[in-house]
Amino acid sequence: MAFPDTRMRRLRRHPRLRDMVAETDLRPDDLIAPLFVREGIDTPQPITSLPGVVQHTVDSLVEEARRLHSLGVPALLLFGVPAAKDGIGSGASDPDGIVQVALRRLAEALSGQMLLVADLCLDEYTEHGHCGILDRHGDVDNDLTLERYQSVALAQARAGVDMVAPSGMMDGQVAAIRQALDGDGFAGVPILAYAAKYASALYGPFREAVDVTITGGGDRRGYQQDARNRREALREVLLDVEEGADMIMVKPALAYLDVIAAVRARVDVPVAAYHVSGEYAMIKAAADRGWIDGPAVALEHTLAIKRAGADVILTYLAAELAEVLNG
Ligand code: PBG
Repeated sequence: MAFPDTRMRRLRRHPRLRDMVAETDLRPDDLIAPLFVREGIDTPQPITSLPGVVQHTVDSLVEEARRLHSLGVPALLLFGVPAAKDGIGSGASDPDGIVQVALRRLAEALSGQMLLVADLCLDEYTEHGHCGILDRHGDVDNDLTLERYQSVALAQARAGVDMVAPSGMMDGQVAAIRQALDGDGFAGVPILAYAAKYASALYGPFREAVDVTITGGGDRRGYQQDARNRREALREVLLDVEEGADMIMVKPALAYLDVIAAVRARVDVPVAAYHVSGEYAMIKAAADRGWIDGPAVALEHTLAIKRAGADVILTYLAAELAEVLNG
């Protein structure tokens, strides 16, 4: 009698052979580390719902950037937490705003060794917590907001940013930012567009990290995408590519792996995925209780994001993953 053969198991028997035939390769090079810098503090402040992540001072930010560089992480994504907020988010475009100050310091300290990416949005800087300027009905005014984004892009570029990442989900934001950059001698600054960004409950810990509360219990469903839609994500992505996005992003990551795969199949620009604050927090919380093996789950989740088709992963796990991947 013929025994069942071991045709699938033969290539799994030896660890070297498993490495040789592995279809997905996750490397520190694939990672971008999101970092927070807060104005007016002397010591780094912990973020309760993001254990291990802090609001940095400019000094501790530079140190952390150096550490990431030494681990082989090529890029950071900067978020600012200003000391004061107002109706139009002035701090976002102020040459002395916290992100601009931090960018200048990082550019000086790291002299091009690390790619400096800046989140380009207003929500951290507006007193109402929305990603744009409000009209008199309290709605986010698309086109007035685009003008603000242009100013923010120029402020970041003048401070030495290597790539801008608009995250506000206004229509036409990529074209508006491209036009502003090109018109001021920054044609070489690429745009990483948060293209398919969903209105997600997984951003909860992030709001603590940047001190953002949307007034009146409001939400972002008027500009971010509906979790029920995938075709809509493709429309968003194609529009952003047409407007000049150099890279596009899907966010969050794990609950939207189908979107990552669909986007990957549709466009030729590099695809990034953001493993967001809530995704990180869930791993940390369960690992803290001893319910899962945190580092193993972190690796499995990020591998899944890569396998789905992302070229680049933005993740708060960047440093610890790089440590594991470097062996
Ligand atoms: C908006 C922005 C958000 C995140 C990145 N950029 C929050 C939001 O859209 O409400 C979330 C990131 C995360 O949860 O890790 N500036």
